[in-house]
Amino acid sequence: MRITIFGATGLLGQDLTKEWPASHSDDVVTGLGSRDADIRDAHQVAAAVRRTKPDWIVLLAAYTDVDGCETNRDLVFAVNRDGAINVAKAAKAQGSRLLFVSTDYVFDGKSSVPYETDHSRAPQGIYGRSKAEAEERLLEISPEFCIARTSWLFGTGGKCFPDTILKLATTRKEIDVVTDQRGSPTYSVDLAHAIIQLCHAKAQGIVHATNRGDCSWFEFAQEIIRRAGLSTVVRPTTSDKFVRPAPRPAYSVLSPKSLNEYGITMPDWREALGRYLAERAAPTAHLPRPLSRLRPK
Ligand SMILES: NC(=O)c1ccc[n+]([C@@H]2O[C@H](COP(=O)([O-])OP(=O)(O)OC[C@H]3O[C@@H](n4cnc5c(N)ncnc54)[C@H](OP(=O)(O)O)[C@@H]3O)[C@@H](O)[C@H]2O)c1
Repeated sequence: MRITIFGATGLLGQDLTKEWPASHSDDVVTGLGSRDADIRDAHQVAAAVRRTKPDWIVLLAAYTDVDGCETNRDLVFAVNRDGAINVAKAAKAQGSRLLFVSTDYVFDGKSSVPYETDHSRAPQGIYGRSKAEAEERLLEISPEFCIARTSWLFGTGGKCFPDTILKLATTRKEIDVVTDQRGSPTYSVDLAHAIIQLCHAKAQGIVHATNRGDCSWFEFAQEIIRRAGLSTVVRPTTSDKFVRPAPRPAYSVLSPKSLNEYGITMPDWREALGRYLAERAAPTAHLPRPLSRLRPK
């Protein structure tokens, strides 16, 4: 199979670009960052797709600063919605399948049971709105495209919650973390494997892909500190004490049913956290991954 990844330089993209050829050595993977092809430019996108002739396009590229989205609305919609449409049109013109990675933020966060894929979209902030509108437009362009929603990503390829907590823990004896937001932490390596499996299974439509189990940010922080063997105290607090520009869903657990239908199960988030901490502690974890890895062999 030939695969082209938009957003290969990001947290998830780095792992996907590494894990794909390692697990399927016959597949040819081309990873693109914004400097290789800016998805806001339809011509650049079309040229990249024509050049790489992918069977599958995996679209991870996005403006992901959730709070920044509230003040950069034009940029957010230009990248997350219109850029995604550019990629979808190029995929259709080339006859490529498309997997678009989306988010739990397309929901309102008011549920108390895991969201199924057909639950109605009701995003609370600009980031969620841009992704929800992209989802709708992509499925209009082709109902055969795959939308893989995920949540609470962590990995060694970029800024993430466990990294922030571990850095804070080096200077603070106590950290306040909210108890009133619940979701499923997801390790980028595990999500990369699920995406590879979904593409090999020719997945279509909406799929929810997160690590198994759920927790609050408070419980997540406690587990990070415990597993790292640190003595920092994690204190419970609530979202009203941490007012931020973008609203956060109170509950955004995604049901694994759609993923299980493809015969895919993802590991429990606690076990995944253990592997992340081991990867983070490895001597090569913080080295930039060479760009040559992003090019096809
Ligand atoms: N992080 C989470 O908790 C989370 C949760 C749910 C869903 N998601 C979704 O998962 C996907 C991957 O997230 P991530 O955390 O890995 O993202 P990330 O680390 O912020 O990386 C973003 C990627 O998008 C690329 N990009 C940004 N603007 C672009 C443009 N105009 N043209 C082309 N590429 C552009 C960046 O390229 P350069 O670095 O080369 O500029 C980078 O490769 C995103 O679609 C995100 O919405 C993330």
